[in-house]
Amino acid sequence: VKKMIIDADTGIDDALAILYALKSPSIKVEGITTVFGNISVDRATDNTLRIIRLAQAPYDVPVVRGAAQPLERGMPEFATHVHGMNGIGDAEIPPSSQEALSERADDFIIRKSKELEGELIVVTLGRLTNLALAVTKEPDLAKRIKHVYVMGGAVSVPGNVTPVSEANIWGDPEAADIVFTSGLPVTMVGLDVTMKTLLTGQHLDQLMRFRQEGNSEVIDFIRESHRYYFDFYRTSNSFIDAAPIHDPLTVLVAEDPSLVTIQRMKVSVVCDSELCAGMTVADLRRRSLAGTDIAVCTDVNASLAVDRLLSPFVS
Ligand code: BDR
Ligand code: CA
Repeated sequence: VKKMIIDADTGIDDALAILYALKSPSIKVEGITTVFGNISVDRATDNTLRIIRLAQAPYDVPVVRGAAQPLERGMPEFATHVHGMNGIGDAEIPPSSQEALSERADDFIIRKSKELEGELIVVTLGRLTNLALAVTKEPDLAKRIKHVYVMGGAVSVPGNVTPVSEANIWGDPEAADIVFTSGLPVTMVGLDVTMKTLLTGQHLDQLMRFRQEGNSEVIDFIRESHRYYFDFYRTSNSFIDAAPIHDPLTVLVAEDPSLVTIQRMKVSVVCDSELCAGMTVADLRRRSLAGTDIAVCTDVNASLAVDRLLSPFVS
């Protein structure tokens, strides 16, 4: 069983990623740290607590509120046009009686890395602010964490918030730069693979056929929130009735890296540029010199990934 901390800006795809992780028998979620991004950190925290209640997780999952803004760039704007005013496609799900811990998110990551030395996997689904704060406070973190899977970046395809930048890196490039250069063992699950991995209207119909007492709340939530998400992708990316599952794919890869092709590359994060801030530049020259050596997902078995994502909900 893989022991994971999930760090999320709990929007629509984060929520599905968390639901999957809580249902997978080969994952134990040791905690969820939250961060601003799709919505404010307070909303991300509240959404996370609601999703845990919805999932009826068979064990306790601590939730820890993290950073409210990027390291250096002041208060951010949120992506409510993508994820809805409440961050989860305006789907309404009941509040939880669980409360977030009062610990700081960076301290929680450091504490867990000591408790689970060499075993802890960190999966980041939002800005890298919490992990950057943790590794700055405790540089030895890089030796204690087994692996970091980052949903973010793009090396061979366009960006999604700017022509060249993916939202999670663009939203705090300085934090991404700290994480990439920290010595943490990083695998980048970027738009190169997530844009190829689509959940479609047919998949939602398939889920509906398995709706029954016991899972109806979860299935209704996935369907409702993804209808909102599909509308955004219809207008912004000319997908018809489909959306990429950025964050769920990252959890799936952390669980089973054989779903993707991974290549080592030297990657740099652009910080000092108005036009290119948040761009992840891979040095693809034969003798690459610029950047930090990390693992980058370059291809994916998308149909297997989507089937696996749906598997806990259709049995
Ligand atoms: C990433 O940005 C957020 O909108 C999504 O939740 C995902 O983590 C995709 O660029
Ligand atoms: Ca996210």
